[in-house]
Amino acid sequence: MARIAVFNQKGGVAKTTTALNLAAALQRTGKEALLIDMDPQAHLTQIYGRPPASAKQSLFALYQDDKPLYHLEVEWPGLGYLIPSHKELIKVDSAFGKGPAILNKLRHGLDIADKLYMNRHTLIDCCPYLGTLSLNAIFAADLIIIPISSDFLSLRGAKKVGDTLAAIEPVLKRPIERRYLLTRFDRRRSMTFEVQKQAKALFGHHLLDTVISENVAVAESPEHGVDIFRHQPNSTGAQNYLALLIELAQKWPKD
Ligand SMILES: Nc1ncnc2c1ncn2[C@@H]1O[C@H](COP(=O)(O)OP(=O)(O)OP(=O)(O)O)[C@@H](O)[C@H]1O
Ligand SMILES: [Mg+2]
Repeated sequence: MARIAVFNQKGGVAKTTTALNLAAALQRTGKEALLIDMDPQAHLTQIYGRPPASAKQSLFALYQDDKPLYHLEVEWPGLGYLIPSHKELIKVDSAFGKGPAILNKLRHGLDIADKLYMNRHTLIDCCPYLGTLSLNAIFAADLIIIPISSDFLSLRGAKKVGDTLAAIEPVLKRPIERRYLLTRFDRRRSMTFEVQKQAKALFGHHLLDTVISENVAVAESPEHGVDIFRHQPNSTGAQNYLALLIELAQKWPKD
């Protein structure tokens, strides 16, 4: 059972797209996924299409009311399960302090959920800043995927994430496994290959071989409320996300 957080402090690098389509790839290969929308922008929840009526039915209730995660999840037909977000989630960063109890809240919640639902993989879609929410995801996850949208600013953002994770490791008293993923990879631009070269130099074997190509079908699918496999199963995007899952399973095996 893997717990993967998709995080980058930079916005718009394909965190949500990656969490969604990796869950879909898992589903396609007969595995079960739980998606957690940890972003008050609630983009993933919007793609799901049925936002919770109140914050009490969202991830916010884990923090506000100590609600167990299994009370909060909803079925996402053809994809797995989702714990939806709500705009109130933004309050977690200011209203509950930054003590160990709050920072480990998601981890403890998932420890209980994992005992109930063995064989379920968890994918956490993070918000684009480092605060209590993202720290919860980092503390809970056993692998962080850091998407880089194949441009120089994004590369700089990814370097910053690496530095941040290195600073957190002594607090957690364990290494934080991370993999960098080039997204929106546009082969028509020479810049793309320069970014790839620099990423290789910076991140070495932590840079995944799989790249996610710039692909119209990937950009379109959220509008239809579906993942890439449902939208266009034969698209480059679908092939890329399946290749990503296979590479992760080979290099970072977790049943
Ligand atoms: N491979 C791709 N090809 C084309 N467009 C893509 C691809 N991946 C992502 N996009 C588009 O890029 C935009 C940003 O993607 P996404 O919302 O997943 O980023 P994010 O990192 O989650 O953003 P935020 O920081 O706001 O949460 C979206 O419009 C998405 O459809
Ligand atoms: Mg997002």
